[in-house]
Parts: sequence; structure tokens; C-alpha cells
Amino acid sequence: MSKVTVVGAGNVGATCANVLAHSDVFNEVVLIDIAGDLAKGKALDIWQQAPIDGYSTRMTGGSDYALTAGSDIVIITAGVPRKPGMSRDDLISTNAKIVVSVTKNILQHTKNPIIIVVSNPLDVMTYAAWKASGLSEKRVFGMAGVLDTARYRAFLAEEIGCSPKDIAAILMGGHGDTMVPLPRYTTVSGIPVTELVKKEKLDAIIERTKFGGGELVNLMGTSAWYAPGAAAAQMAISIQRDENRIFPCCIRLKGEYKIKDVFVGTPVKLNKKGIGEVIKLRLKKDELDLLHGSANAVKEIMDALDGMGVL
Ligand code: APR
Repeated sequence: MSKVTVVGAGNVGATCANVLAHSDVFNEVVLIDIAGDLAKGKALDIWQQAPIDGYSTRMTGGSDYALTAGSDIVIITAGVPRKPGMSRDDLISTNAKIVVSVTKNILQHTKNPIIIVVSNPLDVMTYAAWKASGLSEKRVFGMAGVLDTARYRAFLAEEIGCSPKDIAAILMGGHGDTMVPLPRYTTVSGIPVTELVKKEKLDAIIERTKFGGGELVNLMGTSAWYAPGAAAAQMAISIQRDENRIFPCCIRLKGEYKIKDVFVGTPVKLNKKGIGEVIKLRLKKDELDLLHGSANAVKEIMDALDGMGVL
């Protein structure tokens, strides 16, 4: 019996649950939200899609954490978006309170889940969930790299005129503008991308990727959900299948790249235990400098959060 819980039945959470249900990898997908019967309704809707699309995943939902008991994996998408007049610190403290309370509620019903954090600001929310959980750092990590890499791959596929399936890439660092691009680790069916795309074009694509989230906010007036929801679902599916796939995840580094106790996007192997292995790349000096800059930016917010008395 395998079970995955998605907390937050908003745009990202509901999309994620829908992708998980379609994958037919888990026996049960539970959707939880604080907002009345929202999660119950969306879960029922996805369940009614099963006969049409042909999957067996049992969908349930509600606001009662008893539903989540015995989850193998929990995906946290709960949070509030930044509202006009809200400072970044206000957003951090509000969302950290939500992430901490969600984590504690989950642990009341499941002892040792794997937790994937999606709520923003991602790197610090992952820290908040890890700290509140008391779980091993191998079992609490964040989804950002899979999404950022997907955006990068989609832009490259458009430029090259090839299938996005054929583009393999890895990015490191924080989510957004502190992302560390690594074009020398990008290939198109094994061909180094630098042989197919001119440097100026590649640089432009990297810049667009860094601000990929903002581009969508400008278009839609709210943050994205299809790719973020699918990215979190892909991580959970791969963990459940025990595939040892390599994804960039936001993890707590313990001295790798000379970064200690900071949550930074890094390639890892994912399996049923969570993080099976941290893949250590031989970064060049300029890449390392960017990674350290990214880690410093996250550390500053982690320290600010420590000072807020939320954790
Ligand atoms: N417990 C459970 N659910 C909560 C809680 C809580 N304490 N607080 C808020 N929620 C729920 C809200 O009721 C809402 O349904 O979280 C959901 C968030 O949904 P949306 O507002 O639609 O936000 P969404 O676009 O899904 O983004 C969620 O993911 O990518 C990140 O930046 C994004 O932090 C944001 C998160």
C-alpha cells in the first residue's frame, strides 16, 4: 500500500495531485487544505476523472490530517502568495508559520515520511520544514531545480527546434535569480549544447530561465502551476519507483562545495530512502563563486528566519 499526501489544494497542489493520480504509481493520493472543503472537492473531481483517463489511484481529500496517516511521501505546497504591501520578511514569516504547522500536523500521523517542499521562498521553507520535522536531511528537501531545469530545457528545445525530451541539463543554486547555470553540463541527445546554440543565445536563454517564474506572473497575474505541480510529482513518482534518478534538489549541504548547513540546489540521486547520494560536480572557479553567492543569499534569509522566533 503506497500513499502520497499533497498539502495545499491550490493551483500547484491540485495540479500535482492530478499528475500523481494519472501516474498510477501510488495506491492513494491525499489532498489536504485548510480552506473548508476545497481539498475534498478537488479530490472528488480528480477521482471522477479516473474512469475517463483510466487510472486506479484512489483520490481522497479534506482538512483532517488523520487522512494522511501512513504517507510514504508528503508534498507541501501550502502558503500564501505575496500581496501588495507585504514585505519579503512578512511573506517569509507567514509562510514559515504555515510550513511549520503543516509539518507538525503531518508528523502527528506519520512518523518518518519523505517531505518535498514546494512553498516559496523555496530554499528557506525547506529549511523551516526540515527544522520543524526533526527528520534526517536525507528525507526533507525542496523542489526548485526540476522546475528551473525544465524551463531551461523548454526554451532550448524551442531554440534548437527539437523535442524537449532530448535535452538533459543540470542547474544548481537557489531558485530564481541566484540560480547557477551550468551550460557545459547541458546536452542534446549527447551533443554538447554549445555545439548547437551560439553563446549569446545560450546566455539569453539562461537569463530568461532565471526570471522564468516572473515571466509567468506577468502573463497570468499569479504564479505558475502546471510545470511546478508536475515537477514535484515527478520527484515523488521517481522516489516511489526507487529509480535512483538524478535531479537537482534543494538540500542541506554538509560541507560539500565548502558550504555547510545551508539549503542549496544540488544534483542528487533520489530513491525510496530520500536522498541516496549527493552528486559532487567538479565545478570551475567562476561556477563555485556563483554557488557560494547563492548559498550566502539563502543563509541570510535562514538567519533572518531564525531571528523571527517562528522555528
Ligand atoms: N494548511 C493547509 N493549506 C494551507 C494552509 C495551511 N496552514 N495555509 C494555506 N493553505 C492553502 C490555501 O488554502 C491554498 O488553497 O494553500 C493553498 C495555496 O494555493 P494557491 O494560493 O493557489 O497557491 P499556489 O499557486 O498553489 O502556490 C503554492 O507553491 O510554487 C509555490 O510560490 C508558490 O508558495 C506558493 C505555493
